Amino acid sequence: MRQQSKTALALRLFLDFAAKQGAEARMLDLRSVELPMYRPDQETPSEAQKSITADVEWADAFVLATPDYHGSMSGAMKNFLDYHWEELAGKIFGYICSSHEKGLTVMDQMRTVVRQCYGWSMPYGVAFDGRADFSAGGALQNPRVEQRLKMMARDLVVYGTLIRGQFIEDLAGPEANTFAATYRG
Ligand SMILES: Cc1cc2nc3c(=O)[nH]c(=O)nc-3n(C[C@H](O)[C@H](O)[C@H](O)COP(=O)(O)O)c2cc1C
Repeated sequence: MRQQSKTALALRLFLDFAAKQGAEARMLDLRSVELPMYRPDQETPSEAQKSITADVEWADAFVLATPDYHGSMSGAMKNFLDYHWEELAGKIFGYICSSHEKGLTVMDQMRTVVRQCYGWSMPYGVAFDGRADFSAGGALQNPRVEQRLKMMARDLVVYGTLIRGQFIEDLAGPEANTFAATYRG
């Protein structure tokens, strides 16, 4: 959520790598959108909310990127996720975390949210320590982190295409006993 966020830099790199794998990518920067605290009773969605929901519906796959705040995701990330559930079902999620530790509890908690919404999670994420892995000027200087970001970009595109493709096929198909069938309009 800070201006000099290394998480945001890592996400930008990731999206460039994903584009090289053939993905069309959009970045939702929670620092710059006015997304109010989620309130179930609020009936009229704000313009920001409508545009974010349209992007979430458009996406076939996601990468959730957050700094480690108290061993968990940022409040802004949790608030964003609270707005969505059915739009996440059957889609695949990767994780990026900037942490002074390994970010494992952070990514586990995002995995829990995604599972509750019937999304699929990549079996690994990319964690890094922004103080050591990025230069003061904001350049990624750890080749291992770069290699893992590239690997996840490749895997998210390949597995995302398969998993999303099957979900869409199951949505449209006649089989009743699939989890996708629950989401038929
Ligand atoms: C409110 C708050 C809580 C934090 N809690 C933790 C923590 O529990 N463990 C940790 O390793 N780092 C923690 N940090 C440090 C951030 O994870 C670290 O500064 C992060 O790499 C910053 O990412 P950014 O460059 O994207 O802002 C915390 C920072 C803040 C502001």
